[in-house]
Amino acid sequence: MRVTIFGSSGLLGRALKNEWTGDEITHLSSKDADLRDVAAVADVVAKSRPEWIVLAAAYTDVDGCESNRDKAFAVNCEGAVNAARAAKTVGARMMFLSSDYVFDGKKTSPYEVNDPRAPMGVYGKSKAEAEVRLLEVLPEVCIARTSWLFGVGGKCFPDTILKVAASRPQIDVVDDQRGSPTYTVDLARAIMQLCRKNAAGIVHVNNAGDCTWFDFAREIVKEGGLSTEVRPTTTEKMARPAPRPAYSVMSPASLHRYGVTMPSWQDALGRYLQERTTTIA
Ligand SMILES: NC(=O)c1ccc[n+]([C@@H]2O[C@H](COP(=O)([O-])OP(=O)(O)OC[C@H]3O[C@@H](n4cnc5c(N)ncnc54)[C@H](OP(=O)(O)O)[C@@H]3O)[C@@H](O)[C@H]2O)c1
Repeated sequence: MRVTIFGSSGLLGRALKNEWTGDEITHLSSKDADLRDVAAVADVVAKSRPEWIVLAAAYTDVDGCESNRDKAFAVNCEGAVNAARAAKTVGARMMFLSSDYVFDGKKTSPYEVNDPRAPMGVYGKSKAEAEVRLLEVLPEVCIARTSWLFGVGGKCFPDTILKVAASRPQIDVVDDQRGSPTYTVDLARAIMQLCRKNAAGIVHVNNAGDCTWFDFAREIVKEGGLSTEVRPTTTEKMARPAPRPAYSVMSPASLHRYGVTMPSWQDALGRYLQERTTTIA
């Protein structure tokens, strides 16, 4: 299978590079083609002639998106449409990475794929709009919604917590946002399987189980062998530019339909910590 991956320099892109073997892969970063450049996107797709395009590229700064709405929509929505049109031209399938932030967090049980989109912030709105547009341009698109990514090779929550906790006796972490942390290695493997199984439509792909950021931080500190005290706080006290859903747990039913299962986030965290130690050493 020939696969073209946009976003290869990102957190997920790096994991896809390591995990996806046995196929002919073209890895692209923004230096190879900016998603906003219709001609450049069409050109790299025409040259690589993929059977699948995996769109792991996005403007992912959730808070930055609030003050850069035009960029958020240009990259995350129009850029995705550019890739979808290029896919259509060469007859390729497309895997689009979307987010749990397309939901408003008002539910108290896991979100199903057909629950209505109700994004709160600009980033979520740009992803929600992209989903709608992509389903129009490429009805067979596969939309993989994921959440709370962590992995080696870029900035992520566990890395930040370990660095901060190493130099402070106490840290305060929000305890009123619940979701599912997802290891890029597990996500990359699931994406590869979904492409091989010709998946279509919306699929929720995250590590099994859920927690709050506070629970996650406590586990990171414990498993990281640190004695820092982790204290629960509220979203209100830790004011950030972008609003975030209080609850964005997603049901795995859509993923299980393809016979794909994900390890628990605790298991994933253990493997991440090992990989991080090996990479730093
Ligand atoms: N991180 C999360 O917690 C999270 C949660 C839910 C969903 N997602 C989604 O999962 C996917 C992967 O996320 P990630 O965390 O791996 O992202 P990331 O680390 O921020 O990497 C983003 C990638 O997109 C590329 N990119 C940015 N702007 C571009 C543009 N205009 N044209 C072409 N490429 C561009 C970057 O390339 P350069 O390095 O060359 O700029 C980089 O390779 C994204 O679609 C994201 O929205 C992420």
